[in-house]
Amino acid sequence: MKILNLGSLNIDFVYQMDDFVRPGETKLSEELNLFCGGKGLNQSIAASRAGCEVFHGGLVGVDGGMLIEKLQENGVSTDLIIPSPGRCGNAIIQVNSKGENCIILYGGTNRMLDKSDVDRIFDGFGSEGAVLLQNEVNLLPYIIEQAHTRGLPIFLNAAPMDERVLECPLDKLDWLMINEVEGRQIAGCENDSDIIPILRERYPGLNILLTLGSRGAACLYNGERHSIEACRVPVTDTTAAGDTFNGYFMACLLEGRHIAECLQMATVAASICVGREGAADSVPLRSEVEAIIASGEICVPNPVMML
Ligand SMILES: Nc1ncnc2c1ncn2[C@@H]1O[C@H](COP(=O)(O)OP(=O)(O)O)[C@@H](O)[C@H]1O
Ligand SMILES: [Mg+2]
Repeated sequence: MKILNLGSLNIDFVYQMDDFVRPGETKLSEELNLFCGGKGLNQSIAASRAGCEVFHGGLVGVDGGMLIEKLQENGVSTDLIIPSPGRCGNAIIQVNSKGENCIILYGGTNRMLDKSDVDRIFDGFGSEGAVLLQNEVNLLPYIIEQAHTRGLPIFLNAAPMDERVLECPLDKLDWLMINEVEGRQIAGCENDSDIIPILRERYPGLNILLTLGSRGAACLYNGERHSIEACRVPVTDTTAAGDTFNGYFMACLLEGRHIAECLQMATVAASICVGREGAADSVPLRSEVEAIIASGEICVPNPVMML
């Protein structure tokens, strides 16, 4: 199944420091590592590894060669990425000796889309397939309107959460994908158990996928609620767990699998991801997920249907 992911591309510069730089200070860093990042890039790679035919859409800056290469290495089409004279989105991350970090985030070309770019990307994609979105590009309300007008089902991962998500026509989505923090903010509640009931009332007909970290995930699909526990596995780094879960869940749904199977496959994929260091690189391949399920190496929980 074809997916258009109109999402962000970032270069992450990670500087190892003894301590963070203070006002007026100049400090030497002993080590710099560059990583490909951005929720958009991570989710394009996750959906592609999960088996979707992914077209990444958006702008890329003059410094984006490594990002294009990374997408292509992972089987993602870059045909709908438009070169821009700006610079790519980037994060300047200082990591101190205690492993704490402080981050400067610059949106760059992720936030320079204009409406004609969006139209051009949708025209290039055509009328078959589904659209995946996150909250790291500008013009999100316009992008949702365009996808809706063109009859494409829309999956929005409302991360990173801020007030711009609330300005979007969420009633036009097919799926809202959130973790508990985003869910509480959108629903305006304190308890995780209130998230789905509040959103169900506010946006009738919206399907919701709510991931809950080590507590698993819950969803509302065609008015029915399902939930699944997480696998009990040793945890190395939970970065990209949500991206992995969302990519696999979406891929399985678009293949027409039963919702219970989608939840199981996504849970196993995310459990492999949390055992590995890194972001996009820690997303497992479909063959790895299927091999683990077949071997029974990880105990796979059964989804439960709730009333
Ligand atoms: N500590 C963990 N142990 C096992 N699985 C986990 C753990 N943390 C996350 N997961 C899996 O990853 C999924 C997504 O994680 P979550 O933290 O909800 O996403 P996000 O990264 O968006 O916050 C969970 O539903 C679960 O299946
Ligand atoms: Mg989490």
